[in-house]
Amino acid sequence: MAGLFISFEGIDGSGKSTQAKLCFDALVQKSIPSLLTREPGGEVIAEKIREILLYSQDEVLPQTEVLLYAAARSQHVRKVIEPALAEDKIVICDRFVHSSIAYQGYGLGVDQESIWQINRFAMGNIFPDIVFLFDLSVDAAQQRSQERAQSRESLVNSEKSKRDRIEARSFEFYQKVRNGFLEMAKDPRVKILDATKTPEAIHDEVISIVCQVYQGGRNQ
Ligand code: TMP
Repeated sequence: MAGLFISFEGIDGSGKSTQAKLCFDALVQKSIPSLLTREPGGEVIAEKIREILLYSQDEVLPQTEVLLYAAARSQHVRKVIEPALAEDKIVICDRFVHSSIAYQGYGLGVDQESIWQINRFAMGNIFPDIVFLFDLSVDAAQQRSQERAQSRESLVNSEKSKRDRIEARSFEFYQKVRNGFLEMAKDPRVKILDATKTPEAIHDEVISIVCQVYQGGRNQ
């Protein structure tokens, strides 16, 4: 498979979406063919599944969550990510499989081997070449999320301006999720970034790693 597949991971409020966008903009600026996408979502059916996952009024059971995230991922991988990689693009994905292991596995306690197994089926041959993990304390992340929710609420008074189903989970849940992400950073593809640094400093680190791996791949 050509191209380069990069996922941006971290607990809600870690700043990963901002960094994903900055990274994408910088690559476009360098005229490197790139795609910015997200999970759950990034494709028509997957975006519909996102609506259920984030905004359902009815209870979604942990096992069902695993399957819905995986179903959305399967659509997204086959219809969007694989074709972009085949065109030699750098694909930047805001969350991917590590979020399922961290949130549903470590956070909700679903058996991790089952989640991997379901996701191996959902992902096919696709796995991130680089996983950026934006690490931040739960306190700091929740503070940021609250500020963001407040500014969204003052902008639009709609249902979606409120915190989503997952953002509303407890401090303990997020502590487990953060520890889960850090546990997965034993894999050398996972690069931990200190999310307390300035956005500019973090962006420089991101771009330097991306360019290093991208050039390395080109020179092979
Ligand atoms: P976002 O707010 O970063 O777009 O992510 C949406 C929420 O979905 C976020 O709270 C994390 C959660 N999520 C999971 O629980 N499992 C997954 O596999 C993915 C991709 C996201």
